[in-house]
Amino acid sequence: MQKNWWKECVVYQIYPRSFMDSNGDGIGDLGGITQKLDYLKELGVDVVWLSPVYQSPNDDNGYDISDYRAIMEEFGTMEDFDQMLSQAHSRGIKIVMDLVVNHTSDEHAWFVESRKSTDNPYRDYYIWRQPVDGKEPNNWGSCFSGSAWQFDEQTQMYYLHLFSKKQPDLNWDNRNVREEVFAMMNWWLDKGIDGFRMDVISLISKDQTFPDGEPGINGYASFNEAANGPRVHEYLQEMRREVLDGRDTLTVGECSGVTLEEAKKYARSDGRELNMVFQFEHMDVDADGSNKWSEKRMALKDLKTVMTKWQNGLQDIAWNSLFWENHDQPRSVSRFGDDGKYWEQSAKMLAVCLHMMQGTPYVYQGQELGMTNVPFVDITQFRDLDSINAYRELTQKGVFTEEEMMRRLRLKSRDNARTPFQWDDSEHAGFTTGEPWIMVNPNYKQINAASQINREDSVFSFYKKLIRLRKEQEVIVYGTYELLLAEDEDLYVYTRTLGKERLLVVCNFSDHTKIFALPQGWHADRCTCLIGNYADAAADSSMPIRPYEAFVLKEVSQS
Ligand code: GLC
Ligand code: CA
Repeated sequence: MQKNWWKECVVYQIYPRSFMDSNGDGIGDLGGITQKLDYLKELGVDVVWLSPVYQSPNDDNGYDISDYRAIMEEFGTMEDFDQMLSQAHSRGIKIVMDLVVNHTSDEHAWFVESRKSTDNPYRDYYIWRQPVDGKEPNNWGSCFSGSAWQFDEQTQMYYLHLFSKKQPDLNWDNRNVREEVFAMMNWWLDKGIDGFRMDVISLISKDQTFPDGEPGINGYASFNEAANGPRVHEYLQEMRREVLDGRDTLTVGECSGVTLEEAKKYARSDGRELNMVFQFEHMDVDADGSNKWSEKRMALKDLKTVMTKWQNGLQDIAWNSLFWENHDQPRSVSRFGDDGKYWEQSAKMLAVCLHMMQGTPYVYQGQELGMTNVPFVDITQFRDLDSINAYRELTQKGVFTEEEMMRRLRLKSRDNARTPFQWDDSEHAGFTTGEPWIMVNPNYKQINAASQINREDSVFSFYKKLIRLRKEQEVIVYGTYELLLAEDEDLYVYTRTLGKERLLVVCNFSDHTKIFALPQGWHADRCTCLIGNYADAAADSSMPIRPYEAFVLKEVSQS
């Protein structure tokens, strides 16, 4: 397998609004990130993915961009950005920017022009359609509730917005749009940034017949009807030629609605498109079909099936990204582990389970502390438009009562991941001296960075060790994956093999003790334990695996 630095690294995602506030206005900012670079250095991550910091009216917290070459005022200035970039580089940390080009803000100059008249030079930068029978051109829904089409009075036509109506979709079939995007990407790369995480890049090419889709619980078809459209690979290959060729970047596509077969094209190992993709099938293990607002608890066998499909399916063909969390998902320790009695053990177990797989691991801010979901009690505490719109739509349509919907938001709302980073046990968790823009999780006195950095058995130190191990053990990066005990409902056991070396990864996803026998062909006396979340794990022919226990054994073959 071809070796690449972006396979060997660990990426840390920062959601700047919630990371660190340097000027007391209650909003995280670039100055705050610069202050905390030493913390990231200590953790050992190589790359930071920054969620959007561009100028934005913040309908969707920066994912609605009104100027791609300016910094959001609340986050600072371009000088603050340059300072942060050079300070990161001087510590050996690369900076990957969020590239949000499926859509812009409706306040972007292109859209302001586009909506003026049907013959405006920017008209065709966006997707405009005549009403069909006096209604929307098709039944596609927005990701954030309601129709994906908005009627515009000025010209009496609809424009497409797969996200909020303040996020009109760009028309990638227009050459000028592509050229503008490529020029902007080159501008940032020339500045010295190290790559892009490409927001919903699987949605950029639309089937021009705009066919209806199967309606979901709110009566609309999913925005994912637009996924993997007819020309998406052509456009990404063009981007490779116009922007990325000859540059040593990390590129990861957020590929909503991606299938395994499509991923093989997006992340193909000949490097003609992207380095890797984010797929989302494992984020649906606790959904009801396409409805994420479910109270279902994930069944481990489903998770194993999905992860194994992607581990085996991309082997030697493409490259996986590994994540349990990001700014769109609830906290993994609450979702897949136990944020009560076994909080610490399960946070570490999840870390082992993910970091030992094949692919580039992503750590979302606070995950390395075991930050948990938030005990929201009232809809007014939410800031996320997805949560607020879904609450309104689904309670109004009678799909769920207010109480049922609150329970679902507590489990799944994106705001679970967006409360302030818990730095210490002082007021507002040390995030700000002002009033935070969103509530702080009340558990910050127990869960915070200050109490974990110097404690050797903390979740933070455990992540630090996992990240270091990746640098020392090639088998963690390049080994092939094999699932064992596929039918076990509590244990996730797999191996990684590279030449003479192999790893046995054992993770207990349950709160009871399980008896586990060393698989055939493994020799207890030849195994060493690389890492474990209970003090005294040792290889034996028969081992009790304690609640949420996880460990990794390494054996080097003698022959
Ligand atoms: C992506 C982002 C999400 C955003 C959406 C629209 O899914 O991760 O936060 O709301 O795209 O840009
Ligand atoms: Ca601030």
